[in-house]
Amino acid sequence: MRENPLVLHVLGARPNFVKAAPVVRALGELGVRQGIIHTGQHYDTLMSDVFFADLGLPDPVANLGVGSGSHAKQTATLLVGLEETFQEHHPDLVVVYGDVNSTLAAILVCAKLGIRTAHVEAGLRSFDRSMPEEVNRIVTDALSDLLFATSPDALSHLAAEGVPASKVHLVGNPMIDSLFSALPSLDPAPVVARLGLPERYAVATLHRPANVDTPEAARELVSAVLGVAAHLPVVVPVHPRGRTRLAEAGLVDGPSVRVVDPLGYVDFLSLVRGAALVVTDSGGVQEETTMLGVPCLTVRPNTERPITITHGTNRLVTPALLPAAAEKALADGAVTPSGELPPLWDGAAGPRIARVISAWLKGDNLSPAAQGTRSE
Ligand code: UD1
Ligand code: UDP
Repeated sequence: MRENPLVLHVLGARPNFVKAAPVVRALGELGVRQGIIHTGQHYDTLMSDVFFADLGLPDPVANLGVGSGSHAKQTATLLVGLEETFQEHHPDLVVVYGDVNSTLAAILVCAKLGIRTAHVEAGLRSFDRSMPEEVNRIVTDALSDLLFATSPDALSHLAAEGVPASKVHLVGNPMIDSLFSALPSLDPAPVVARLGLPERYAVATLHRPANVDTPEAARELVSAVLGVAAHLPVVVPVHPRGRTRLAEAGLVDGPSVRVVDPLGYVDFLSLVRGAALVVTDSGGVQEETTMLGVPCLTVRPNTERPITITHGTNRLVTPALLPAAAEKALADGAVTPSGELPPLWDGAAGPRIARVISAWLKGDNLSPAAQGTRSE
């Protein structure tokens, strides 16, 4: 490894920013030279800039401005842009996050250029290859040199796919580090007042292609959300992906359903913290509600985050069963089957990841135990 090695983080979409912030901070504290490459997959102020501000992320060294497009077009454009970027900056390690197309493109380019890589949030599996993210996860994990897992189930998935245990580190969840950092700023009152909500309300955020991409799915979903709104007002910060389709299906702003723009990180989590119920298909929100102790109904047939069901407040529901499930969840409150939170979701995942990366850059062959991490 050369003197003063360079780490580049490839970020593109809203959840990437939340996961990367604690890693970037912790690497900075260890004096590691680093930079952020923003792919531009998400570009609206409320999908990108607001997260850099709320999370204290440094400005990117480059923004590739890829924008939206089909999977092939977006990924192909990113392959070209990232190859040029890496050839210009010569990173010693590229860190990728989660399961978005920017993650997939970065890992492919690095594999071909011989650049070493680390994947944060490795090993999650829904076992549903109709989800674009599942394909991205499998390819990313197969090609990564360092794999950082957020939950123990990820370790067995990686082992089953033949990933050597020596590459894998169970480090906890950096998305939860960001939540812990934001906690002192999370106050529902101002957002609730701004949106004219009563004390008891639900929050819904929905953007999975299977839920919002066809008129039929959107109609079924909107009808389910209106069913929840019969019990209490629902505020829906609408992800741009579903904006038109959900509106066409009848999701319109009114007293019992507040339809608003996507919210910034602190505003959104403040709202979630004060909510009686959350309805979602987001990956990250399943995890955040588990930690905040807010009942969460996930409108999906499966989840790559089963730990939020066994160790959290999450339940899977179909759209048809959502209104009845909401009524029950409101009556029962937050129920955590195991009575324990997920292991290592303690706000210290970023420093754990940074210690492993820093030792790896120095060529130290420290065992995971010596890094303060566990690898099984
Ligand atoms: C992407 C990820 C998904 C992740 C989600 C987080 C992939 C394949 N999917 O889905 O895993 O859960 O981000 O939010 O990478 N759009 C805007 N403004 C923006 C961004 C997007 O208007 O700033 C609209 C465009 O119409 C675009 C659509 O949203 O076509 C979808 O954006 P895209 O990034 O392709 O996928 P997401 O659904 O956001
Ligand atoms: N989030 C936000 N504002 C919103 C909706 C979500 O700040 O209006 C945050 C949420 O708290 C979590 C992240 O965005 O930290 C999750 O992103 P998203 O649901 O878009 O992606 P996923 O986790 O499904 O990949």
